[in-house]
Amino acid sequence: MRETLLDLLVAPGSFNALTLEHASRSNGEINAGILTDGDAHRFPITDGIPRFVRTDDSGQIQTADSFGFKWGRRDSYDDGAMAVTSRAWQLERYGMSSSQELRDVFASHELVLDAGCGSAFSSSLWLDEGWTGEWVGADISSAVDVARDRIGALPGTQFVQADVLDLPFADGTFGAVFTEGVLHHTPSTERAFHSVARLLRPGGELFAYIYRKKSAVREFTDDHVREQLTSLTPEEAWEALRPLTALGQALAELKADVVVPEDVSLLGIPAGTYDVQRLIYWHFAKLFWNPDWTFEENHHINFDWYHPTYAHRHTEAEIRQWCADAGLEVIRLHDEEPAAYTLRARRPR
Ligand SMILES: C[S@@+](CC[C@H](N)C(=O)[O-])C[C@H]1O[C@@H](n2cnc3c(N)ncnc32)[C@H](O)[C@@H]1O
Repeated sequence: MRETLLDLLVAPGSFNALTLEHASRSNGEINAGILTDGDAHRFPITDGIPRFVRTDDSGQIQTADSFGFKWGRRDSYDDGAMAVTSRAWQLERYGMSSSQELRDVFASHELVLDAGCGSAFSSSLWLDEGWTGEWVGADISSAVDVARDRIGALPGTQFVQADVLDLPFADGTFGAVFTEGVLHHTPSTERAFHSVARLLRPGGELFAYIYRKKSAVREFTDDHVREQLTSLTPEEAWEALRPLTALGQALAELKADVVVPEDVSLLGIPAGTYDVQRLIYWHFAKLFWNPDWTFEENHHINFDWYHPTYAHRHTEAEIRQWCADAGLEVIRLHDEEPAAYTLRARRPR
């Protein structure tokens, strides 16, 4: 880690100043050491990353292990095909015409926290050699080490292993917080929302992707499958889910449409013409399949959905209420996708 990261860090919980002890440095960076808060709390720096996680919530630990595993499987997402689709999808959700425009919006805020950065997949869709701001990636899992390997050579990047519910930053530290698909993976999405909202300076912006409640049968299936998988190791769950991905592929390969002639309100299905795989995907069971991706890439998406213990789903009213409670103005709430809401909100000056 660079010395400048020390200027941003405080002890999680107490927000006391931290002192660096037993530091070992090379090439101007701190590789190892201990951060202490003068209150008997000690946070190690290992492999150049300060480590602050101290949760004992078993559901959160399982969720973190699951994500540490999947982001470590770079062969299942990092060969470019997923980035192409995901970049277009990200721009549409945030209402941007190019990744450069999104990068420039973040750069205008100077200091950005990617809260729950994982391997920095979403940030790496816009963060590149042209980045002029400071970007800090924080994740509860070992994925933060993968993030450092993937994008640590880019200018202005820093990495912290930390829990969004217990972050080592004082209120008002950041100009922007980017949190894509993270808050709902904690014990409480609402608490996580407020935990990142407090970090925004006046004029600062929150960019968040938050799962949305689905129709009743899909919600039932999601919980039913997840209940069977969460007690498995990530490796076991990855294997157990293969037939589900294969079924998604078989349905997609039918290339058949079905017309739902009128709203089926009892099942929450609007009238319309659906590809068969999409109808089942949105309303009965998440059997993700994108024909432009490999089997492993598609499988990565299904694993991401079903294995973590915490994957809460929310309504637009809840998200608007959290913004109001946090004193944030909603700038944009993208609701055109049945899977999730994409929020852009600002702390007034
Ligand atoms: C779906 S992944 C998204 C990663 C990244 N935001 C992206 O879009 O590429 C969710 C991430 O949230 C992280 N996460 C879950 N609970 C967290 C918590 N309490 N604090 C920090 N990160 C958390 C997981 O470890 C995982 O990397």
